[in-house]
Amino acid sequence: MTNLSVAPRLSMPDRTFETLQIALPASSYPVHIGAGLLGDAFVWKSALPAGSVLVISDDNVAPLYLESLLRALDGREAGSLVLPAGEAHKTFESWRAILDRLVEIGALRDATLVALGGGVVGDLAGFAAASYMRGIRLIQAPTTLLAQVDASVGGKTAINHAAGKNLIGAFHQPAAVIIDTATLATLEEREFRAGMAEVVKYGAIGDAALFVWLEDHVEAIKQQKADVLRQMIARCVSDKARVVTEDEKEHGVRALLNFGHTFAHALETQTGYVRYLHGEAVAIGMMAAARLSEDLGLCPSGCAERLGGLLQSFGLDLRWPGDVAAEATVEAMALDKKALASGQRLILLEDIGKASIHQGIGRRDIVRAIQSTGRKL
Ligand code: GLY
Repeated sequence: MTNLSVAPRLSMPDRTFETLQIALPASSYPVHIGAGLLGDAFVWKSALPAGSVLVISDDNVAPLYLESLLRALDGREAGSLVLPAGEAHKTFESWRAILDRLVEIGALRDATLVALGGGVVGDLAGFAAASYMRGIRLIQAPTTLLAQVDASVGGKTAINHAAGKNLIGAFHQPAAVIIDTATLATLEEREFRAGMAEVVKYGAIGDAALFVWLEDHVEAIKQQKADVLRQMIARCVSDKARVVTEDEKEHGVRALLNFGHTFAHALETQTGYVRYLHGEAVAIGMMAAARLSEDLGLCPSGCAERLGGLLQSFGLDLRWPGDVAAEATVEAMALDKKALASGQRLILLEDIGKASIHQGIGRRDIVRAIQSTGRKL
């Protein structure tokens, strides 16, 4: 497969982007994907109705893009709030700081919050938008690969609790998602790698053609060839849109998007949200889930190795850390919000490109899969 395009590209004299529409029962919103969109007044004008605007960003992203975004708002009065960067700041305090600022500027129900940054900013601003006056408009402007392909689309918002990642949150769909692929040029290599874990996930759980395409395009992706990245991001957004459209509130098929995440969240919680980027933990978690799938005879042998090979070709480290005990991880997994009273729910592989939801997997099997993830890679 050489072309992954999923939507017509719109070309105007000085801009080229594509738009995917996410159509949900109660809301429908565009996802615009293209280079330079953060500074594109035309795109922002179409996304912003009247009402006050508050842009939330972090101290990594704001120095790079806040000014050009504010300029693109073209005379609209807009405030901004810059928070400290990092998963360790996805806290009650940061959420409260956003709410305090909304109160301070006298924001009403027609206000719009703009999340300019990665998944942490998107989750925080999203949860503030969900909770302020029982819900105000949110525009996601994701600047990391991970947020562009996953976190910004689908309406999940949350903050962390010491007991668990994303333990407090709400579903709150954005009014628009504006993905400026040019921001990837300033993304640290580590962040880019971490985002690739979520990209590979889409291939592994439901898009075998994407998986093969990724295997064929490793070098072009690592060189960040603009057209290749745009195609890749659009394909992931389209895959995600399909799942979210079918199951907005995760009563069924949306849970497949959590492949590797129950392991990953336990790993992030146990390492205090500071050792791993989310995508790095997801890569390790997917490996553990793939090993478990093979150990249980659910997928043909060789699946885990193929998955691991692709993740490693993007530079992801897949070893379970020696200082995080498998038994303690299983305890932490039980507290994951994806667990149900009826038991741990895990996403396992049936093959590359096919995943399914399982319950009642034995604790010893999970421990063994984690231990072998530590050893074999
Ligand atoms: N990140 C998984 C989901 O949005 O459902």
